Amino acid sequence: MGRPLVLIGAGEMAQIAFEYFTCDSDYEVVAFSVEREYLRAPTLCGLPVLAYEDLERVHAPDRAEVFVAVPATGLNRLRTRLFQDARRRGYRCARYVSSRAFVWRNAEIGENCFVFEGNVIQPFVRIGDNCILWSGNHIGHRSVVGDNVFVASHAVVSGYCEIGAGSFVGVNATCNDRVRVAADNVIGAGALIVRDTEPGRVYVGSPARAVPGRSSFDVAF
Ligand SMILES: CC(C)(COP(=O)(O)OP(=O)(O)OC[C@H]1O[C@@H](n2cnc3c(N)ncnc32)[C@H](O)[C@@H]1OP(=O)(O)O)[C@@H](O)C(=O)NCCC(=O)NCCS
Repeated sequence: MGRPLVLIGAGEMAQIAFEYFTCDSDYEVVAFSVEREYLRAPTLCGLPVLAYEDLERVHAPDRAEVFVAVPATGLNRLRTRLFQDARRRGYRCARYVSSRAFVWRNAEIGENCFVFEGNVIQPFVRIGDNCILWSGNHIGHRSVVGDNVFVASHAVVSGYCEIGAGSFVGVNATCNDRVRVAADNVIGAGALIVRDTEPGRVYVGSPARAVPGRSSFDVAF
């Protein structure tokens, strides 16, 4: 029997997390949990789906850990709200780092992070809490990824960069070394970030420019 784990969420990210935690971690997923208004089916992947509001009744915080398995919905705001709420209720939030990721010994990875296969995380990197790094990213030496960030796939974050809290980095995006991506940015697929960005904006192209009049909070995820 592995360490008991409840997955918060029942969508695609939760079902993917179920696969990875089950096949590549020492956790044992014991249930899914969603807010009551989103309860649809009583079971998922052969496990119960419980109302999040009274999760303590079945899985108390001293008996089970949770992982908030929600993608970039609402520019990461939904995952952030549930993560903060779970911690406030006394739950410890698990992290998953693929056995097929390369993580240097002194890299730091926060709580409720999910690091897929093929990520390369170099020396002295710091990754905050509640971040999702989908497959195949390069996070270069000394870079700092803030809390609540979602990095899609095959992004290159060069050395000494900062990725601001709450940001989304699209597939195949590239950051030149030492650039600072501000908080709450959306970096479009394939964008090349060559200079520091401004918070709350959407950047596309090579070299990347802010999309005029577009707020990152208006992007539908
Ligand atoms: C950047 C992005 C979020 C913009 O979405 P949006 O806010 O709906 O914006 P629109 O599609 O209306 O595009 C706005 C403008 O930016 C351009 N644009 C959008 N994405 C672009 C990109 N990746 N590269 C270059 N230009 C892009 C559009 O052509 C449009 O330009 P126009 O006004 O001259 O026609 C989206 O296109 C994107 O790249 N998403 C990331 C996809 C991804 O990484 N998915 C991973 C799986 S989670």
